Amino acid sequence: MQIEQIILSLQPNQNSYMQVFNNFSAIKQVLISINEEGGKTGFVPTMGALHEGHLSLITKACLENDFVIVSIFINPTQFNNLEDFDAYPRIVGQDLEMLEKFDDRVLIFIPQVEDIYPNGIVSQHFDFGGIENQMEGKFRPGHFDGVGTVLTTFFSLLKPDNAYFGEKDFQQLQIVKKLVAIQNFEVNIIGCPILREPTGLAMSSRNKRLNDSQLQESKLIFKVLKQVKKDFGTKSAKEIMQDVQKAFKNNTELNLEYFEIADESTLKPLQIVEKNKKYRAFIAVFAGEVRLIDNIALN
Ligand code: PAF
Repeated sequence: MQIEQIILSLQPNQNSYMQVFNNFSAIKQVLISINEEGGKTGFVPTMGALHEGHLSLITKACLENDFVIVSIFINPTQFNNLEDFDAYPRIVGQDLEMLEKFDDRVLIFIPQVEDIYPNGIVSQHFDFGGIENQMEGKFRPGHFDGVGTVLTTFFSLLKPDNAYFGEKDFQQLQIVKKLVAIQNFEVNIIGCPILREPTGLAMSSRNKRLNDSQLQESKLIFKVLKQVKKDFGTKSAKEIMQDVQKAFKNNTELNLEYFEIADESTLKPLQIVEKNKKYRAFIAVFAGEVRLIDNIALN
């Protein structure tokens, strides 16, 4: 079957050609046809509550592939905190509306829990060479095992050629690259730049949970990161850390969880700046119950 025929064979929904697949066996048939025709597939995994950041990944994926699979699945095993899992925004109706602007080459996959966890909701354990123990790994035990588990299943089932991840979750992006190397998956992992609100706040599904005052104050996060970038190279890591702690100290809405300057590839905290190495500043902040993370490239 030609790719054009595959497109024609996809039955239109009422007003759009968007295709939603609710289980793996449904999408599998389409993937087999695409594969037979040598079509390239891109994959954008999401947990829903879509925002412009996700749409930018999907747009890039559409430019670089014949078909794009967008998954919406709130993966229970990557939440180390049950309240966070329960409070995670679930707005599939709105997500689908946002996806309507894409053409019929975008296939939406909303799997059942049984598709992803046929043997019960448990994580595999991974050794990612130590990067899983830094920052997010320290503060969210088990998180990266959960991410590794769900992506192992997605990559094995869907066999995409390219998969797209935002750099807001920079540590996750490095973990995924490691996962692909360890498991020998034939997928290119493509990191995409952080999209920000006009205030500078990094776009995130969790922003939907912020109240007005938290939203207002959250612009401090990027302001601080930009200052860190300016100071990097002139101030010591210790001085920068003290400045960051001071910036959040008297803020009534935001609580700093961690700030770290780390080597981009090992994610180990900076000791002394070495030539030819790339460094990034990473931050995690609580606004009430809502956890926000961000990062910035320093050199
Ligand atoms: O970044 C996310 O939204 C999730 O960690 C992912 C990659 C969809 C896996 O559940």
